[in-house]
Amino acid sequence: MIYFDHNATTPIDDRVFDAMLPFLKTFYGNPSSLYRHGRACRSAIDAAREQLAALIGVQPGQIIFTSGGTEANNLALATLAPQAGLAVSATEHPSVIEPALHLQSMGHPLTLLDVDANGRIPQDAIDEVISLKPSLVSIMLANNETGAIQNIEHYADQLKAHGIKVHTDAVQALGKIPVDFNRLGAHLMSLSSHKIYGPKGCGALVFEKSVAIKPILLGGGQEQGFRAGTENVAAIVGFGKAAELAKLELAERQAHLLKLRTLLEHGLRAMPGLTVFAEQAERLPNTVQVGIHGIDGEMLLMQLDQKGIAVSSGSACASGIREASPVLVAMGIDPAQAKSAIRISLGKANTEAEVIEFIKQVNSLTR
Ligand SMILES: Cc1ncc(COP(=O)(O)O)c(C=O)c1O
Repeated sequence: MIYFDHNATTPIDDRVFDAMLPFLKTFYGNPSSLYRHGRACRSAIDAAREQLAALIGVQPGQIIFTSGGTEANNLALATLAPQAGLAVSATEHPSVIEPALHLQSMGHPLTLLDVDANGRIPQDAIDEVISLKPSLVSIMLANNETGAIQNIEHYADQLKAHGIKVHTDAVQALGKIPVDFNRLGAHLMSLSSHKIYGPKGCGALVFEKSVAIKPILLGGGQEQGFRAGTENVAAIVGFGKAAELAKLELAERQAHLLKLRTLLEHGLRAMPGLTVFAEQAERLPNTVQVGIHGIDGEMLLMQLDQKGIAVSSGSACASGIREASPVLVAMGIDPAQAKSAIRISLGKANTEAEVIEFIKQVNSLTR
C-alpha cells in the first residue's frame, strides 16, 4: 500500500512500539500505587512528560496527558471560554467547533473568525474580535486539510495585550514543524500522539502556569487533579518516545517531506484543471490538498484505493459525509470545486518512487 494519509493518522514507529511493550505486559501496575510495581509506572509517565516537554520547550508540570487531541481541545474550551464568550476560526477541527457550538447553546456568545482564500486569518478579523473582547480565542496552528499554518505568535501578541486568552490546536503541526509553546505565546495548546508516530488514544493539553484549568473529568487526583482517571501508561510512554524521536529527527523529516511535496506538486500541477488549495499560505511540509476540475474527490479516493493508494478527500473525521469540506467552503471555495478535493499527507517513510507512482495513477484515473 502507498499510504498518503498521515494527517488522519500515522503508523506507529517500531521504536515507539518497543518502548511501549513492557508497559502492556510486565509493568501493569497502577501508577498511583505506592509499591515498586506502581512506582515503575509512575516513573515511566514522568519520563514521557519530560520527553514531550523537551520537544515543545515547557516544564513537565505544564503538561496534562489526555485521551487525545479531541479531549485536549474540549478541556481547553471548557477551561477558558465562559462568561464573555469565545471566538474560534472557521476552519477549526470539529473537536474545537463542536464544543464551541455547545458552549454557545449554553448561552456563551460565539464568534466564527473568517479566513481568507488561503485559509489565513486576516488582520481585520483579529481587530474585530479584539473589539468584542471574548474570554478566549482558539486558532489552530496548522490546518489538517490544507496544511495552512497560522501566525499564532502574531495573533497571540495582539490578543494578550487586550486581556484575551489564546488556545491553539497544534495537533497537526507537532512533529512536522518546530512547535515552541513559549514562542507561540498561547495560554493553552492541544497535542495528539497518533499524528507523530505514537499510539492512538493519547494526547496532551499544555498550559501556561497562570491558567486555572477547569477539569472536565472528575474523580481521582491524576494529572495534578486536572484529568481524573488511571493513566494509559503504555500510550503515554509511546507518546513520550514519539516526541523524543520527533525532536531528534525533526530537521531531517522536514527536509524529506518538503522534497517529496515539491515533487508531488510539480507532477500534479502539470495536470489540466488542477488547483492547489491554500497555495499562497505557508503550509506544512507534508500536506497538499488539490481540487481537479470535473472530478469527484470521494470517487477518486475510492479508485485510488483500488490501486492500493490511501488518500483522504478532506478531513478524516468528515469522511463519509457527502458534503463539501467546511474548511474549503470557509475559504470561499465553490462547494462544487470543494467536492473535487483530495488531500495527500505524506509521512517520513514515503519515497520518491511512491510519489511518482501516485502521479501516474492520478493522471490515468482522471484522463
Ligand atoms: C487539527 C486536529 N485537531 C484535533 C484532532 C483530534 O485529535 P485526536 O484524534 O487525537 O482526538 C485532529 C485529528 O484529526 C486534528 O487533525
